[in-house]
Amino acid sequence: MFDTLTKAPGDKILALMGEYAADSRSDKIDLGVGVYKDEQGTTPIMSSVKKAEARILAAGKTKTYLGIAGNKGYGTAVLDLAIADTVDRKRVRIAQAPGGTGSLWVLMQLVNRARPGATIHLSDPTWPNHNPIAENAGLKVAVYPYFDTETRGVKFPEMLAALDKLGKDDVVLLHGCCHNPTGANLTDAQWDQVAASLARTGALPLIDLAYLGFGDGLLEDSYGTRKVIAAVPEALIAFSGSKNFGLYRERIGAAIVIARDEAQADIVNSQLLNVIRSSYSQPPDHGAEIIRVILEDKELRAEWETELNAMRARMIGLRQKLSDAIRQRSNSKDFDFIAAHRGMFSLLGLPNSVVEHLKATNGVYMIGDSRINVAGIPEDRVGDLADALLAAIK
Ligand code: LMR
Repeated sequence: MFDTLTKAPGDKILALMGEYAADSRSDKIDLGVGVYKDEQGTTPIMSSVKKAEARILAAGKTKTYLGIAGNKGYGTAVLDLAIADTVDRKRVRIAQAPGGTGSLWVLMQLVNRARPGATIHLSDPTWPNHNPIAENAGLKVAVYPYFDTETRGVKFPEMLAALDKLGKDDVVLLHGCCHNPTGANLTDAQWDQVAASLARTGALPLIDLAYLGFGDGLLEDSYGTRKVIAAVPEALIAFSGSKNFGLYRERIGAAIVIARDEAQADIVNSQLLNVIRSSYSQPPDHGAEIIRVILEDKELRAEWETELNAMRARMIGLRQKLSDAIRQRSNSKDFDFIAAHRGMFSLLGLPNSVVEHLKATNGVYMIGDSRINVAGIPEDRVGDLADALLAAIK
């Protein structure tokens, strides 16, 4: 049977996790996989999550199936959080899914049912898993201009010109906030123009909302999503609770559909549930129940927001520290963009040879395209990192 197979390419992000773990140097620095780290370099369970879990354990009475759409209270809470009352809920359906990736997977399969082999347009560059998920779902992949390697900002006029050329059979994947891998994001005024373009062309937005609250705040980070869904008749959102609730291994996300009207929402939802049933039948509950308990309880929610705000503030602070340290040492503004970027990542724009050199010489691990996870910067080693970066690019 299997002699027809050749070795599949590994995932560069997950492969780097393994390489880092196998490195015995005690001063190594992990700027690889997108996982939040605190001052101690650990990824703790949030205190609000711990409290919610204790309540769940005490109150739990059954482990019976949840149903295909998952935990209903979770679904409502996520919609309240991400889109509030931007569109009439009669047009909206939500299905809990395993992580942001699982959400993208079921949504892309849904698109392929509606328009087999449709083209999905990804930003250049994008999260490396977008492409394989889309292709495995049967979609064709194209790219639109996004990152300007000179300014390390968004090439907005080029992006908009590309979006303006799309038609109603096209799908556009947009990063709702905290662009992965670049860290370069649209301004509110640019989101307004993207929303207007989508309304004109009829292209379907699929918004990847994996880092809500990691950029400028919960409301600020949902500006683009809300603006887009208010402007168009149909939209899809893939939500993730991995980062903002720190629930990575619980694999908790949600697939959200906004349809033209209530009748169409029912039809589309029936297809979405059918995709899920034939993929993994029903989602697991634990992560969803944690998020439901937190978001439905006033005190736990306030505690979670405080924790989320602290994570965000720490990442913004680390951005500033690193760009200041580089500026002090080099007397140049070349890396000021790190402080201007938002979210967990910045794409440094270094050649792969420099990335490999940093790994071999300094034990500094970043993704091969030079994406760094700013949360991985050790507070007390910012100067060492700046020195290593500057020495490597000399
Ligand atoms: C990342 O981009 O590092 C994260 O989203 C983790 C992953 O699954 O790739």
